[in-house]
Amino acid sequence: MNKDRKNDLTKKFSKGTIITHWLTALLILILFPLGKYMEGLEISEKMGLIKAHAILGILVLILTIIRTVSFFKHQRPVNLKTGSKFNDKLAVWIHNIFYFLLFGIAISGLATMILGGYGEALKTGTIDMIKSHSEIPPLKPHGIMATIMMILLVMHIVGFIKHLIIKKENTLKRIL
Ligand code: HEM
Repeated sequence: MNKDRKNDLTKKFSKGTIITHWLTALLILILFPLGKYMEGLEISEKMGLIKAHAILGILVLILTIIRTVSFFKHQRPVNLKTGSKFNDKLAVWIHNIFYFLLFGIAISGLATMILGGYGEALKTGTIDMIKSHSEIPPLKPHGIMATIMMILLVMHIVGFIKHLIIKKENTLKRIL
């Protein structure tokens, strides 16, 4: 393979993919710190935040469904060539795992709302039925998947910067 081969940056992702990509990125950057912050609060202090977290999280789920449909329905620019077969594959896998994690995080979040008694508490306005964290099985996977996703997000950004420096290609043009 020719390592100096240039990628065609004039071919862009579809409008739907671009909008959902940036909205999801913004929401994730709000939801992760919010989730971690809520963890340390007393139940009585955090019901409003949990409601906001759940609404924004469900929005991420809806955006992910739209993005998945858009991904298969519209033509996409070809995968980037980085000059390293390993990095080419890594980039594709990071993108794919993002989709699985987003679904996993949203489903475990919804399960936490239901099984942990949060949904019921928001409906009735009483917090007695909320279980302790250790009694809510989907909460741990929710937090673990969210942490893995943040690590992948860093790798995703590092990949972009590395490509910019080494190949001198601003790949953001494909998603702007
Ligand atoms: C991309 C989307 C989401 C991200 C990044 C995210 C992130 C997080 C994080 C980091 C925590 C702390 C978990 C821990 O380490 O123990 C958390 C907690 C929680 N999340 Fe999410 N979340 C998302 C979506 C959702 C959704 C869709 C729901 C429900 C509809 C939800 C409901 C909850 C609940 C109920 C908690 C427990 C709060 C507590 O008791 O402290 N999350 N989330």
